[in-house]
Amino acid sequence: MNILILGSGGREHAFAWKISQSLHCEKLYVAPGNAGTAQIAQNLPISYNDFEGVAKAIIDHKIKLVIVGPEEPLVNGLVDYLKSQPKLARVKIIGPDRLGAQLEGSKDFSKNFMTKYGIPTAASRTFTAETLEDGLAYVASHSLPVVLKADGLAAGKGVIIAETTAEAQTTLKEMLTEGKFGSAGNKVVVEQFLRGIELSVFVLSDGVNYKILPEAKDYKRIGENDTGLNTGGMGAVSPVVFADESFLKKVENKVVKPTLAGLQAEGIQYIGFIFVGLMNVKGEPFVIEYNARMGDPETEVVLPRIQSDLVTLLLAAADQKLSDTDFTVSPQTAVTTVLVSGGYPEAYTKGQIISDLEKIEEVTMFHAGTALDENLGVVTNGGRVLAITALANSLEGAVNRSQKAAATVQFEGKYYRKDIGVDLIRYQD
Ligand code: AMP
Ligand code: GLY
Repeated sequence: MNILILGSGGREHAFAWKISQSLHCEKLYVAPGNAGTAQIAQNLPISYNDFEGVAKAIIDHKIKLVIVGPEEPLVNGLVDYLKSQPKLARVKIIGPDRLGAQLEGSKDFSKNFMTKYGIPTAASRTFTAETLEDGLAYVASHSLPVVLKADGLAAGKGVIIAETTAEAQTTLKEMLTEGKFGSAGNKVVVEQFLRGIELSVFVLSDGVNYKILPEAKDYKRIGENDTGLNTGGMGAVSPVVFADESFLKKVENKVVKPTLAGLQAEGIQYIGFIFVGLMNVKGEPFVIEYNARMGDPETEVVLPRIQSDLVTLLLAAADQKLSDTDFTVSPQTAVTTVLVSGGYPEAYTKGQIISDLEKIEEVTMFHAGTALDENLGVVTNGGRVLAITALANSLEGAVNRSQKAAATVQFEGKYYRKDIGVDLIRYQD
């Protein structure tokens, strides 16, 4: 069958790489894609926010399966739109509808959902401009640090961890009355700070049944030892050594099962990925957030560990047959290191020539922000440029291979973290 992947990052290149190996895949399209996906699929110059353009591409290219990579079109109702088109009635789509995507699109929705279905999460209250005074009083009596979250999508920037009451009150006011984070901050969730170690668990849901995919840890900050500004993600590791079998069993029983049951009880037929961001607090899982999609760069370590045909799994999800399907996971460790443009996550330049790609060995390279320039070849085209994934029998081995390749590839302004996975090596020792 012909398959379409929507998105243009490292996550989508990883999906394209895995799906291009599938026996089910005849022709693979990525919209809009990048220079990496162009090598293994046909890029279509269509924005995933152009719902009519996407529908037309599905018809023109006889697409039978669509995988929606990023959250924005999900939260904006792309799936609802496609499902409402009579000509697309038989197209299978991996990605929740607008209501399901509220798990990510509204922190207030997801907090209420977790409270209603008994899913462990930090205690919280939500405030709006009308309840600002209550909010200021609430944060004044709250323990420190206190966490403030913009309700809506804020590209990973909408969370403030305030160390003082004054900072919390100023931030709350700025979000609710001065448009900090735009309309995403019209509602603010104020929540308890959780102390523990973070990791992410990925679930594929068919609406009733689920499969838990390999877990991962990502590295969000720009600087080594988790310092500096938050980014989309500077690297990731799977598996996560501190997530032992008993912890993952707790995640399944206390988080995954009630989440699926809650979605059904709400009448949401959730077909797609649920990314559960978790804090391990003294061996107990607490949900920090849900995302309605796979993570980036987590996908770049999760998919390389899945040995089975991914399309078989995706079709089973679309057809409510996940309980009849199995998949196998490699026991090896995957590490990805992300190369970024100098200046990222603040201002950076694009169009830098990328060289020495042919010199890297023993890794899989996923393009994140690249483009093909007619004269210059592969050039940088985003903040995150490449994600370099290595698989090895040991964590150290995977770290070393990924780092070696990261050092080899060249472009003006290249930066990457040299400590991806190093904390986990220490932990396992
Ligand atoms: P989010 O956008 O919800 O993933 O939050 C961004 C980051 O803020 C998370 O990855 C955590 O590191 C941190 N964070 C969010 N909520 C909490 C919390 N309740 N306690 C501690 N850290 C948090
Ligand atoms: N790496 C975090 C995310 O995809 O949201």
